[in-house]
Amino acid sequence: MIMPTAPATPLTQNPAWKALLDHHGRTAGQHMRDLFAADPGRAQRFGLEAAGLHLDYSKQRITGETLPLLFGLAAQQQLPERIRQMFAGDDINFTEHRPALHVALRAESGVPFLDEVRAVRKSMYGLAESLRAGRVPGGGGDAKGGPVHVVNLGIGGSDLGPRLAAGALTRYTGASLKAHFVTNVDPSDLDGTLAGIAPENAFFIVTSKSFTTMETLSNAERARDWLKARLGASFDPARHFAAVTSAPEAARAWGVPEAHVLPMWDWVGGRYSLWSAVGLAVAAAVGPQHFDELLAGARAMDEHFRTAPVERNMPVIMAALSLWNSVFHGAETHVVLPYCHELRELPSYLQQLQMESNGKRVNRAGQAVDYPTSPVFWGSAGTVGQHSFHQLLHQGTHLIPADFIVPVNGPGDKEARHMLVANAFAQASTLAMGADNADPHRVHPGNQPSNTILFDRLTPQSLGALIALYEHKVYAESILLDINAFDQWGVELGKKVAREIQDGTGTNLDASTKALMARADALRKAG
Ligand code: F6P
Repeated sequence: MIMPTAPATPLTQNPAWKALLDHHGRTAGQHMRDLFAADPGRAQRFGLEAAGLHLDYSKQRITGETLPLLFGLAAQQQLPERIRQMFAGDDINFTEHRPALHVALRAESGVPFLDEVRAVRKSMYGLAESLRAGRVPGGGGDAKGGPVHVVNLGIGGSDLGPRLAAGALTRYTGASLKAHFVTNVDPSDLDGTLAGIAPENAFFIVTSKSFTTMETLSNAERARDWLKARLGASFDPARHFAAVTSAPEAARAWGVPEAHVLPMWDWVGGRYSLWSAVGLAVAAAVGPQHFDELLAGARAMDEHFRTAPVERNMPVIMAALSLWNSVFHGAETHVVLPYCHELRELPSYLQQLQMESNGKRVNRAGQAVDYPTSPVFWGSAGTVGQHSFHQLLHQGTHLIPADFIVPVNGPGDKEARHMLVANAFAQASTLAMGADNADPHRVHPGNQPSNTILFDRLTPQSLGALIALYEHKVYAESILLDINAFDQWGVELGKKVAREIQDGTGTNLDASTKALMARADALRKAG
């Protein structure tokens, strides 16, 4: 892949962009109340289905002209060709000279590396089955009774994806196994998890693409020390450790037995890696069949993204609307509101996916951009957030587009679930429509845009489709913004300085940091 060169015309000087600016100027003052009043068929027109999900985007600040203009920008940015390049395995992650082929992790044909993917998945499922049957850690589960405890040690993409999926699919998890996720280097995270586990029943997965991440290696070291201290001579790493990494030699050198080192590849971004062996803890928790269903859901969304024309392409439409709100309407943040307790980890997962991907300040050619890139993503499960920050969404001064994620059916009391869904609809409606009142303190200005993603229920399949939807939305948005979604150079400097501070080799630290270090040293000495 050729390194992108400076575009002949800067993005903001291009006709498509200018047309959008002009359109914004002419429509910015319109209220959604009036747009709905003027178009009774709006909800049907601005809605579509894909991979079992329904997207309602009629509560967006758009007219019939807006999306065609945004699709004009997509054409100018060669979005369909960029989508083709991703599925073809081109080095679309051009600053690291690599493909970004997470789609290959759930594909059945038509993409590179399928044999490698299948071979590793076979090993992953084999280990998952051994853990589910208690053969590993062997003697575990029966010697001390109770379930096998699988503890994933990882951070960022090596934690957030499996943590989300395992949490979302709790009701698909058998009783013979408990999955835990330890991510923080704060010892309380690991110690808190180990407090409830018998060493004989513990199995640790050291999940680190680079196998250099200090937090994960520190947690792995302390987990090993904990086992050694309790099992003594009977400690056998083959019964208690696996590793998932694109540096298998480092994992072996660390002491993970060859058979338990599951490779991942540099053509998979950490934040796109749930579908690889990074999902081992999930496969162990829900079993290979349900993990296959998760992959199938994502594959269905891949097929939609790869083949649907932009006008009927759900990830492309969400990307275009996100850009319309953040760049043209100036929304600096975007709130994700899953009305589903099992999806409470989704906002955290999407924070990495969205912000580590599109939190960039230079375009593909390396020039500083003169427009905003990724909005800040945040959120929490509904209706919990309603009793915390929704006041600001309704009567604050910020434009905050929202994604309501609403599985209609599910386990438990039907009435309570109906109440949950009713609240999601009510929030999206009142944020859009608002309400006047003689008392200014009670006025709801409304016109807050939102998407509603509605589906039957949360299953491995619908979860797979939902996550893949956002993966593709993020990629499409990066193309519209003319940035690289797949690198994350910005995370390295902080790691380097942290190491220097920790080992006292920092030579040109600022005075404030030096002073803080001195205070911390004094506090440590005081004990
Ligand atoms: O520091 C950010 C990051 O590199 C993420 O991109 C990645 O998901 C995470 O750290 C963990 O990295 P690894 O899987 O290599 O331990």
